[in-house]
Order: sequence, then C-alpha cells, then structure tokens
Amino acid sequence: MNAQLTPPRAATGVGAANAPTPWGIDLDGVTVRYPNGTVGLKDVSLSIPAGSMVAIVGLSGSGKSTLIRTMNGLVPVTSGTLRVGDTTVSGAGGAALRALRGEIGMVFQGFNLAGRASVLQNVLVGRLAHTPLWRTLLGAYRERDRELAYEALDSVGILQKLYARASDLSGGQQQRVAIARALTQQPKVVLADEPVASLDPPTAHGVMGDLRRINEERGITVLVNLHLLDLAREYGVRMIGMRAGEVVYDGPAASASDGDFENIYGRAIGSDGDFENIYGRAIGSADRLGTGERGSQ
Ligand SMILES: Nc1ncnc2c1ncn2[C@@H]1O[C@H](COP(=O)(O)OP(=O)(O)OP(=O)(O)O)[C@@H](O)[C@H]1O
Ligand SMILES: [Mg+2]
Repeated sequence: MNAQLTPPRAATGVGAANAPTPWGIDLDGVTVRYPNGTVGLKDVSLSIPAGSMVAIVGLSGSGKSTLIRTMNGLVPVTSGTLRVGDTTVSGAGGAALRALRGEIGMVFQGFNLAGRASVLQNVLVGRLAHTPLWRTLLGAYRERDRELAYEALDSVGILQKLYARASDLSGGQQQRVAIARALTQQPKVVLADEPVASLDPPTAHGVMGDLRRINEERGITVLVNLHLLDLAREYGVRMIGMRAGEVVYDGPAASASDGDFENIYGRAIGSDGDFENIYGRAIGSADRLGTGERGSQ
C-alpha cells in the first residue's frame, strides 16, 4: 500500500488527446407529461450543436430539470422526437438508454458521491460503463482508467485529494470530484443540473470555470441549469429561458433584454437592474405555491 501514499503524477493530456467527438442534441416538438398529469415540457423544439456551452434558466418548476433529464432518458418523452448524438432517445429501450448514459456525464447539485469511498474510487465509477463487470467487482481497473481519473482530477485542481474520503472534502471540492467523475467517462455531453446551487459565490465561480474549460479545451457539449442569472450571463454563451415548460428565450446570454427577462421570470426587472434580487423573490413565491422541484437527485 506504500504506493498509495504518494499521489501519482497526472498523465499529461490523456483525456484531452483522446477526446471523443462531442454530440449535438435535437428536440422536435417534445412534450413531457408526468404520470400525475403535470406537464413538464410543452412542445419544445431546440437544436444544440455539438460543442456548445448552454445555460438554462427559469423559475422553479419551469422545466429545467425535466429538460435535462429527458436527455439521458431519466424522464420519458410523451410526444415529439429527441435525439442525442445518433440515439433517438424518445422511445428508446433499456439497452439503448444504458449505452447512452455511458456517454453522458451528469453533475448534480448534491454531488452524488459515495461519501465513505475515496476520491479515486468515486472518480473511477466514471469508467463503469466502459469496464467489464469482473474488473469492477475485483477493483481491477486498467492502468489507462486510472490515468484518465488522475488526469481528470488534475484538470479540476484536486489531484492531491486522491486518497481522501469524499465526505471529508468541502462542497466545492466534492463538486469537482463529481466533475472529474463525469470527465473520466470521456463523455460526449455533460449535463449539469444546478451544479453550483449549494456553493458560496467564489466556489461557484470556480466550478463554473471548470465547466467552461471542459467545453473550451475538450470541446465537450455542456448544458448547465442555473439559478443565478449573473452566472448564466457570464458562463452561458447561449442562454435558454424556460417558463411553464416552454422555451421563452433562446439566444446569446449577453444580449437578453429587460423584456426577455420579464418573459422568463414573469415580472419586470427593477430600475436598479438587480436581477438576482428579483429572481430570488420570484423563486420564493413559486416555492410557496409548492411548484418547487422534486427528487432532484
Ligand atoms: N416526478 C415528477 N412527477 C410529477 N411532476 C413533476 C415531477 N418532476 C417535476 N414535476 C413537475 O414538472 C414541472 C417542471 O419541474 P422541473 O423539476 O423540471 O422544474 P425546474 O425548472 O427544474 O425547477 P427547480 O428550479 O425548482 O429545480 C413542475 O411543475 C414540477 O412540479
Ligand atoms: Mg430543477
């Protein structure tokens, strides 16, 4: 076990050099109706080219998580067509969905790490879909899988935490482990559902910076749901605004007008332009009406 006392040096460029071709995502008239009758998405048509960085914003209950979850088949499409890469997700069977999920890295608000396991073990989970069962059962990951894990951890700046227990890390560090796990998958798409909602502002910026670098340097398609408008404006090259399950804005984040924000959030912004404060109040009222998100993990 001596070898485990010193973290190995990261292999240089293992992930980046062999970066897989990213995938585009196309929705054509996609509607999602939950079993209880709630409409999560209403006739949504979108074309997201491979290699895009997209921020999705909207009030609580507007359909942001539903949109992201349809893309890896967690929420079935009721009508319309959804294609992710070459896979037609709408109507796909279990085997196709499992294969699809192997290619999509997911990052959640709550990190979803195995707290008692080491950072390395958590990140190697990203190789599961690409590793024969006997190897995972024996923990006999290939050297290349480990190199991918080291390289991913290095690229989000926490290689030195390789052997720490995940639960011993700060929230920001845990989210970076989750991003490293997604990267180790060598994903064609990364879907992040409110990845910085439970982090303080400087840490949130650090994690958003990581997601942007993943997009810029590896060319991976990145979709990220965000609560904070300033983050969407800063990191989302393209912004998609949702309201009541419909797309009400789709364009450059930087060029959204006051009227666009009113469309998304259902009220005018103040003359002081205090988007966050106004959005915060809008969120509060939506939550009081019980329209908050369910089961986000
Ligand atoms: N499993 C479910 N069963 C029934 N209705 C659901 C389910 N999940 C979400 N909904 C409903 O679908 C709509 C869209 O929810 P969704 O979680 O996509 O919103 P969101 O924009 O992600 O909200 P938040 O900002 O709170 O995360 C809401 O009306 C919500 O109550
Ligand atoms: Mg949500």
